[in-house]
Amino acid sequence: MTKLDRCLPIIAGNWKMNGLSADLHQVDAIEALAARTPGVCVALAPPFTLIRDASGRAAHLAIGAQDAHLAQSGAHTGCVSPEMVADAGGSFVVLGHSERRSDQREDDALVRAKTKAVLAAGLQIILCVGETEVERDDGRADAVVAEQLAGSLPERSLDDVVVAYEPVWAIGTGRTANEEQIAAMHAQIRSVLRNRGGADVPILYGGSVKPDNARAILSLPEVGGALVGGASLKAESFAGIVEAAV
Ligand code: PGA
Repeated sequence: MTKLDRCLPIIAGNWKMNGLSADLHQVDAIEALAARTPGVCVALAPPFTLIRDASGRAAHLAIGAQDAHLAQSGAHTGCVSPEMVADAGGSFVVLGHSERRSDQREDDALVRAKTKAVLAAGLQIILCVGETEVERDDGRADAVVAEQLAGSLPERSLDDVVVAYEPVWAIGTGRTANEEQIAAMHAQIRSVLRNRGGADVPILYGGSVKPDNARAILSLPEVGGALVGGASLKAESFAGIVEAAV
């Protein structure tokens, strides 16, 4: 089972609620991509239903889940626990994605409780933070992200944590934060993490990363990789982003 590497750039795909067994050939192509780019940690979070199949096909590719419950088992109809993700071959879980914060009303306290359960199951975490457009326009982006980090980072070690800065207004919109916005927010996140003993925690950028903007984004200071939605669904466009990270 491949884990998220803390030394290499991480390019992680998030398939969201997309992907059927007929799409597993894309996983094969992404695995081949990971095998031929050893200088990049390539990761993929397919829907729960494909984790076991995907992990069975992945030798160089890290496979994870897009969410997990805060309990390992019990009467929680429709939910999937961290232990189940691990049992299916996953090595990490994305937590606190803005779509879950809005669609499922997940707040920082719940996200923090989930981090505890995910770490207890021996999995790594990609913890997402990011402001909405209104919050940025109001000049509150820095404060919102600082509050999300303060409220949702796990209380103990950050050894198995990766942070993803994803401005909500840039997700799936074709708009990306500009280079100054990304560099400034990543510097702020780094300083919070450093104070928590997380000087080496990778910080990914996410929000409309595409092959044509990836190189510029990935070359910014404190950008340790990318979390990619739409452009990860097809191995060909994902390859353009992974190759930009080499
Ligand atoms: P996007 O999604 O690349 O489609 O904007 C990013 C994400 O939500 O992780």
